[in-house]
Amino acid sequence: MAHYEIRKNIYWVGAIDWNLRNFHGYSTSSGSTYNAYLIIDDKIALIDTVKEPFSQELIKNISEIIDPSKIDIIISNHVEPDHSGALPNVLKYCPNAEVYTSFPSGEKGLKMHYGENMNLKPMKSGESISLGSKTLSFVQTPMVHWPDNMVTYMAEDKILFSNDAFGQHIASSERMDYESDLDLVYREAKKYYANIVMPYGAQVKKAIDVIAKLDIDVIAPSHGIIWEKYIPQILEFYNKAVNSVKKDKAVVVYDTMWGNTATMAKTIAEFFAVKGLHVKLMNLQANHISDIITEIMNSKILAVGSSTINNNILPTVASFLCYLKGLKPSNLRYICFGSYGWGGQAAAIIEKDLQSLGYTQLCENLRIQFKPNYQQLAEMQLTLEKGYNKSNIKLLKEKQK
Ligand code: FEO
Repeated sequence: MAHYEIRKNIYWVGAIDWNLRNFHGYSTSSGSTYNAYLIIDDKIALIDTVKEPFSQELIKNISEIIDPSKIDIIISNHVEPDHSGALPNVLKYCPNAEVYTSFPSGEKGLKMHYGENMNLKPMKSGESISLGSKTLSFVQTPMVHWPDNMVTYMAEDKILFSNDAFGQHIASSERMDYESDLDLVYREAKKYYANIVMPYGAQVKKAIDVIAKLDIDVIAPSHGIIWEKYIPQILEFYNKAVNSVKKDKAVVVYDTMWGNTATMAKTIAEFFAVKGLHVKLMNLQANHISDIITEIMNSKILAVGSSTINNNILPTVASFLCYLKGLKPSNLRYICFGSYGWGGQAAAIIEKDLQSLGYTQLCENLRIQFKPNYQQLAEMQLTLEKGYNKSNIKLLKEKQK
C-alpha cells in the first residue's frame, strides 16, 4: 500500500501485515497494520515506525513524499517492537534525527532494545515541540499497556496519535473508519481491548480523562483504521469497557474427553438461554482463547468445565485459565463443572483459579461420574436454579420493563 494523506501534509506511511495470524498468542485472524505517520512542516517528523521486517515498506512510503534523509524528528510513542522495530533502519537514512520518547521508561526501553547511540529526547507529560506551523504535545499513558506508552497530540489539526489505544488488528486497503467495514472494525476493536488493554482498565480510565479534555477531530492509532467519523462510538465503547458495563450474557467454556462434559456444558447453556440471557457455548477445541476472552469481557456469568484427566484438568482448560488470569476480566459469577471417571478433581481445580480472581460462585460445583443421565441433568438444573435465584442477577431487559 502506498502512502495516504489524512490532512494536508500529514500522511499515513505505515505497513499492512495481511498474513499476521498470531500476535504473541492473540489470534489475529484479520491481520494487522503498523501505522506510522509523516508530518511535513518546517521540520519533518515521523510518528512511530513499523515492525522490523516491514522497514523497507516504510522507507518506500516515505520516499514517495520526501527524501527520508530529510526527517528531523522521530516520535517513538511506544517501545514495543511492532512500532519501534524499524527505528534502527530508518535512522540509517537520517542518522541525525532526534528521537522523542517518554521519560524515563521510553528512554530506558529504547536504549535496552537498540543501544545507547540514538539521539534521544525524553519527554514528560505536557511537554511539546514545534515543527514550525504545527506543534506536537506529549501525554504519557503509562501501562496502556506498557510503562513507556505515550500519545502525541497536534492541536492545529486536532489529531491524536494514540498509538495502541483505540487500535484494532485489521489488515485492509482502507485507512479511514468511514470507508471501512464498520462491523469488522468494532469487532476487532473489542477483541483488541479484551486481549491487549483490559488488565489496565484503571490506567485506561485516567488516559481517557486526559484525552477527553482535548479537542479531537481524528484519532490515529498505531494499528488498524483511523477514527474520524465514529470517534464518539469508539470513545463510548472504551468508557463502557473501563467501567465494566455488562450485557445479559453467559459464556460456557469447556473441553471434553468423551462428550460427557460437553453434555453438561450444553445443559448449562440451555439453562441460561431459557432465563433470557444471551449465551455463548465455546468448546476450547473449536474456539481460540483470544476470541473466548473477548466474549467474556462483557458477560455476567462464566461457566468453565473440564473432564478430569490424570487427577487434573485438560491442558486446553489450563491454558485458557492461564490466559484468563493474566487478562482478568472483572466482576463475574462463576460455575465450575465436569464429568469424571474416578478422581473427579477438575471442578475444584478450576474453582481455585476463578476464586483467585475474586469472582463470585453462582452455585456449588457440578460434577457427574461418567455419562450424565436424564435425572442427573435435571438435578444439575435444580442446582443452577437455586444458585441463579440466590444470586439476584437483574437482567437489563427486566429493569427496562
Ligand atoms: Fe502495538 Fe504495544 O504494541
